[in-house]
Order: sequence, then C-alpha cells, then structure tokens
Amino acid sequence: MKRKRIFRRAAVLLMTTAMFASGSIAGAAEEPQQTEESFAEAEENSAEELHQTEEEDREVRLKDAVSKELGCYVGAAVTGQEINNRRVWEIITTHFNAVTLGNELKPDALFNYSNAVCPGTEEAELNGETITVPKINFYKAENMLDKILQWNKKNPEDALKVRGHVLVWHSQTPEWLFHEDYDKQKPYVDKETMNKRLEWYIRTVLTHFTGGDSEYKDLFYGWDVVNEAVSDSTGTYRTDSENPNEPLSNDTHGNNSSWWHVYQSNEFILNAFVYANKYAPADLELYYNDYNECSGQKTAGILELLRAVKATDGARIDAMGMQGHYNMDSPNYSEIDMAIRMYAQVVGNVQMTELDMKASEDYDGSPESKEKEFEAQAKRYGAIYWALKSADKEEGVNVTALTFWGTADHLSWLQSRSDVGGGNTTGLPECPLLFDEHYEKKPAFYAFVGNED
Ligand code: GLA
Repeated sequence: MKRKRIFRRAAVLLMTTAMFASGSIAGAAEEPQQTEESFAEAEENSAEELHQTEEEDREVRLKDAVSKELGCYVGAAVTGQEINNRRVWEIITTHFNAVTLGNELKPDALFNYSNAVCPGTEEAELNGETITVPKINFYKAENMLDKILQWNKKNPEDALKVRGHVLVWHSQTPEWLFHEDYDKQKPYVDKETMNKRLEWYIRTVLTHFTGGDSEYKDLFYGWDVVNEAVSDSTGTYRTDSENPNEPLSNDTHGNNSSWWHVYQSNEFILNAFVYANKYAPADLELYYNDYNECSGQKTAGILELLRAVKATDGARIDAMGMQGHYNMDSPNYSEIDMAIRMYAQVVGNVQMTELDMKASEDYDGSPESKEKEFEAQAKRYGAIYWALKSADKEEGVNVTALTFWGTADHLSWLQSRSDVGGGNTTGLPECPLLFDEHYEKKPAFYAFVGNED
C-alpha cells in the first residue's frame, strides 16, 4: 500500500535515536525519545504525501484511520448548540466514535448557570447524615445525551461514547458553592463541610449518569475527575491568591482556586479521586486533565499530583488527560514526546483530550495566508500524531484517546478567546481544527488519515 511509506524514514531515525539505555521507561523520563530532527523529517514526510493522500482518501473516516493506528477513542468536543447543527452532527457521526460535551456537564451548567445566587436547596442523605445541598438540573446535558442515545440505538456500528467533563475545577464552578449557606456574601465554609459537599456532588453526578438505574449508564467511557489543579508558574499546585484582600479571580499568577482556598492543601484533589472511585462503576475510567502540560515546571507539578493520587488509599486514576491546546511553534515535539512518556511512567495511560492549534502570528485569514497556514498546520498535526503513535508503541505507554476541541474552525472557542486579559477578545482569526468554516476537510484532516506505517 502506497501510504505505508509515510513516516518510514522517520521511523528508522526514531530507532537510531531511541534512548532506552536500560531498556526501561525510567530512562525515557529524563530525555526525549525523539530528536527534533526526526520530527522535522516526520513533518516533511507528512507534507510530501499530503496531496496524494487527499486524492486517495476522499472516503476515509477519521475514526477508522486513527483506530487502526492507535486503537483508541477518537473524539470531538461538541456544545449543546453545535449538536443541533446538521453539518456538525454529520461530521461527528461520520468521523468520530466519542464526544466530550463542551460545557453541559461542568458544575456551572449543572447548577443551571445560576452563578450569582444558588438556585435553591434541598435535603440529602450522606453517610447517615442529613445535609443541605443545592439543586442540580441535568436537562442541558440530558438533551444532548438523549440525541446520542437515539443515534446509538439506530446505528450500533457507529455508536458514540461520551467522556464526562468535569467534576472538580476552579473555573466554571459557582463561587457560592464554597460559602456558608451557599451565599457568596457569607464566609467560606470549613473543609469538613466542603468535603461533604464534594462527596455529595460527585455521588449525585456519577450516580445519575452512570449508576445501575441510569438510562445513560453504558454511554460513558470515562470522566475527568479534576481539571487544571496545577499552577502554570510555580511547579506545584494551583493555590489561592497571595493577597487575601484581593478577589481570587484577580490573582495574576492564576492562583485563583476556591477549592484550594477552603482546603489549603491538595486534599480536595485526593478526596475527589477517592469519592469518584467510590461511586463510579469499575469500568468507568477516571482522569486528571490539564493544559500547558508539556512545559517543564508545569509537567513537574502535574507529575507530583499524579503520584499523590496514586499513593492515596481508595483513590483510582486511570489516565492523564493532556489537553493539547497548542500553538504552531510551541510546545516543541521533544517536549510533547517527553511529557507523554513521563505521565505514562506514573499512570500508564495517556490521552490527548482537547487538541487544537492556535494560528501563526502572521495568519490573517486571507486566502493566501490560509493556504500557507493550512499546509504548515497539517505538517505540525502530522508530527504530533507521529509522536503519539511512536510513544504508544513503547512498552508501558498507552495512548487511549485522541480528542479534538471542536469540529469546524469557525465554531472553535479560540475565535472568541479572551486570553489577552480584561475579558477582551484578541479579534485574531483562527483556524485550529480539522474542518474549515464550510465544514470541509482541511489538509490537517489528512495528516491523520494518511499516516499509516
Ligand atoms: C479548558 C477546559 C475545557 C474548555 C477549554 C476551552 O481547557 O478544560 O472545558 O473550556 O478550556 O474552551
């Protein structure tokens, strides 16, 4: 088969640069397994074969190609609005075998986006005690899951699985959840009280969607238990503000976690994995998920967290979720390669959970710059995919999901991102995904369907 030539030269280079001095993964953790030259070669090979592949593979489905290579879930994030877009749904049901709900299973959505005030309380039983809890509303997620269930019933061979996202996160979680009487004007609760709320919340969500009586119980393959609990800058946990008089959200180092503020330790993270393990069915995988996951200091912090969870009695963690919100020039390939192997060393399974690509600085959305950007992007996606595949071939490293954060470029969160501060959008055009604004496959799509070796 012609396509088998792809990346063969790079694979030879890979073998010559492999650094298994002791034959164990431990050696791999200190040094990348691949050189930047071998990735450059992978990029070039990807470009060489791209056009030929585009012609040959008009009908190839992404999920078939990637499953053949990695044997893993091939997913895309989809929001409540997007799932009713006929073109998006067509892409999802054709090319993917899994989805992540973009927002609808996050705490703020389950509390009905009632962020300013608690949407009402009721009594619940927890470990023999009656506690007061806020009302949860599942309908936004259920609307989406019902559509998926219906599809699965009619199309069992193309059934979709769902990744639960996310139980514990400093963001998209109403502030009142951390305060006395669920009133954000009142003081923060103590950690004993918060622990009860944490256990109740995890039990309620997991039981509702994955419990024996739930109609959704066979839909989920795993759940992000904790998201983004590591600081970008300190090499350890995301904490609370250094200045107690400042609102947490103003902390310039991103140390803005109300979870940390209540616990003053990583205990909420460890407990979350204990409670998730307690209430999840044994076959529901449990994950930690984070961004900037390939940058040195942050990788160190994440590894510390993963080890702490692994060492906790009653906790279970099945994979590390590397979000994969990347730029065209960062992280570099050796950093990605090394991060995959280091995480695998602690938890075995690694997943790419929110992959997308910010455009180059000189990209302006014009037809000329689009052509150039699309080609360059396809090369980069090709090399990242190659990194995943080559890591997956090593003993002790399993890549178990590859998920993109969206489907078509114009719907991506990056189009309205507010990462320049002050809530302003950058206004820059972006083209981060595998399908363009006309829902057509981009060169980046072919970086994943043509790369058999
Ligand atoms: C984070 C979260 C996702 C989503 C993306 C961008 O990484 O984990 O839920 O919000 O950012 O939209």
